[in-house]
Amino acid sequence: MTTRTNEVVADVLAALHEVLERHQVTEQEWMAALAFLTEIGRADEFVLLSDVTRTSVLIDALSHAGDEAGATASDVEGPLYVEDPPVREGSPAKIYDEYEGMGDADVLIVGGRVTSAGGGEPLPEAIVDVWQTGPDGGYDIWDERQPAFNFRGKIRPDADGNYAIQTMLPKPYTVPTDGPTGRYLEAVGQHPWRPAHIHFKVTAPGHRPLVTQVFFPGDPYLDNDTIGAVKPELVRPVERRGEHLGCDFDIALAPAA
Ligand code: BEZ
Ligand code: FE
Repeated sequence: MTTRTNEVVADVLAALHEVLERHQVTEQEWMAALAFLTEIGRADEFVLLSDVTRTSVLIDALSHAGDEAGATASDVEGPLYVEDPPVREGSPAKIYDEYEGMGDADVLIVGGRVTSAGGGEPLPEAIVDVWQTGPDGGYDIWDERQPAFNFRGKIRPDADGNYAIQTMLPKPYTVPTDGPTGRYLEAVGQHPWRPAHIHFKVTAPGHRPLVTQVFFPGDPYLDNDTIGAVKPELVRPVERRGEHLGCDFDIALAPAA
């Protein structure tokens, strides 16, 4: 083992043993804990468990404590990103197909400029990868009515770094509750709701990748997101602009070390 692994594992075990002793945990209780973690692994829910226990938010904060001043705030990725979404063309780039039962929610155009937090220059080579729920609260991967990759896609900014996405205003939704993490939430009395949000993963040559989320004012779960991931600077105003809603989100990437 490396020195780092030795040090961290020794401290984790010391902390765990102290808790077991302090609470006089029984053999039966310890076996139940191990069975629960086995189930979490089998259900592929370790990321979800890390999220709802607010561990992911802590790791995100630790990982980005030294970020360049002026860089856009990072946020938790969550377990619902799907690799290799399609590139969406046009400006605004539409990231969804209409589907039966989607209702008549408002079209939302999200846009801004991708720049370097170093010198402020535009980053036309950036890729802006987004994913979100549809307007009635479900991700494509949970919703048989939606085509694959609905409300997901990669967008390339123009030569000045400007990007624009045509989407729909998402709604609050619950994290998956049908597996062992759902039982955990019930056992500790924690609700499963997240405020409406759009996920972003932005990359550009010579810059640190940024994973973040955008939230919207007035959402009932801004103050009690079940994963605790809302940052005030990521709550972006939404306003009516003629036929559609608009939301500005400039993105500044930290130069790579
Ligand atoms: C999400 O926002 O996609 C998400 C985050 C954490 C847990 C589950 C879902
Ligand atoms: Fe999400």
